[in-house]
Amino acid sequence: MLQKRSIDLDLIRNSPLERTIGPVGLTAMGVGAVVGAGIFITPGIIAASYAGPSVILSYIVAALVCALAALCYSEFSSTIPLSGSAYTYVYIVFGELPAWVVGWALISEYLFAVSSVAVSWSAYFQNILDSIGLHLPEILRAATGTAGHQGFGINLVAGLVVLLIGFLLAGGLRESTRVNTIMVFVKVAVIILFVVVAVFYIKPKNYHPFMPFGATGIFSGASLAFYAYIGFDAVSTASEEVKEPQRTMPIGIVSSLLIASLLYSLVSFVIVGVVHYSRLNVGDPVAFVLQVIHQNWVAGIVSLGAVVGMTTVLLVMSYGGTRLLFAISRDGLLPKAFAKVNPKTHVPITNTWIFAVIASFLAMFIPLDVITELVNIGTLFAFAMVSIGVIFLRKNPQVKDLPTAYKVPLYPFIPILSFILCIGLMLKLRAITWIVFGFWFLAGLLVYLIYGHHHSKLLNDHVTTAHKD
Ligand code: ALA
Repeated sequence: MLQKRSIDLDLIRNSPLERTIGPVGLTAMGVGAVVGAGIFITPGIIAASYAGPSVILSYIVAALVCALAALCYSEFSSTIPLSGSAYTYVYIVFGELPAWVVGWALISEYLFAVSSVAVSWSAYFQNILDSIGLHLPEILRAATGTAGHQGFGINLVAGLVVLLIGFLLAGGLRESTRVNTIMVFVKVAVIILFVVVAVFYIKPKNYHPFMPFGATGIFSGASLAFYAYIGFDAVSTASEEVKEPQRTMPIGIVSSLLIASLLYSLVSFVIVGVVHYSRLNVGDPVAFVLQVIHQNWVAGIVSLGAVVGMTTVLLVMSYGGTRLLFAISRDGLLPKAFAKVNPKTHVPITNTWIFAVIASFLAMFIPLDVITELVNIGTLFAFAMVSIGVIFLRKNPQVKDLPTAYKVPLYPFIPILSFILCIGLMLKLRAITWIVFGFWFLAGLLVYLIYGHHHSKLLNDHVTTAHKD
């Protein structure tokens, strides 16, 4: 179970997937995956309930933690440009069972991220429908148990949008990256439009006192703001489909994180400058601020932009999830159907649909607040393993046979600090999140013991070699 995988040099050279993505496409994918509900929904809550006007510092602290992990991801994905992200890296440096555990945690990250963003997407979309007089019946507006929703309900729009994304991805990657790049430009444009319009309405007195809840407020805000950065790691799942991965991977990962931090800092600084933080506990803070300053037409454009913006998060996170399942199945730990690639489109079709159907089901039936923390815990766990894994990667004798790739600076200080910070943030999550994660973990262990362990390609290759000997 602790058998490590060797780095498959042949697979790096001759993958069945096609290398079509360049640095701009990859950065667009990163910004596409990252900037979504975390900026269109959470900055108001962080400002009102945790950090006050210093909400910008919460976003910066979260960005720093992610930046350290991003450097570690860059080293791995440029050294070993294979599908599977953290799962594949951990397989190589720590062995099969730890890899399965990380893979299972990542499946939860992608599934829950897609469903939570779909629920936010649905909220903004329903606002737009309401504003033009089209009201969905109450029973189809939100899942049972959602705050403010009475009785039984399903979130129809959230479920449908996830299926629509599955349909797009099943059509082939080239088309989806093009659609994604256009939508990312729209998203960035509306965020800049918001900043440019609202900045003139800032009242300096709204910044006093700057830290009403002190450093504690900033750090608690940071653990929530972390959600806003999730997704840059999904970029590393594409490493088997990018051109010149040694150069493209670090550029894609680091620039998407930089762009996201810049946008978040600007937006969060502006919203608390225009409206007093105590009034910002609303579901759509960006549009709300614009309404307060009577820029209703800009608010409409920004709401539409938010829907487009969150669509790209859905697209890239769904993409990441399907490529992860592909990699796990290729290693025999999940049934073969997950790794079957359509010869025409080069897309793992079955797995794309299975992922879409499960995420759609979660989005329809589970309320948002329950899903969100589950996204964070799985992600932090994977970040921690990747960070500490860099130290073992450097000791791997095969690395010297690979083309020179990106290296984390200040080694081993950065990987160790990143590991400690990720574990620290995990410990700040609620007990209930740990309990649900514990059950998820046990279920994963069961799947491994019943299926994965016996079908593992690595194990079977060893048995065959032993017989030959
Ligand atoms: N970072 C993603 C978002 O904010 C999950 O939507």
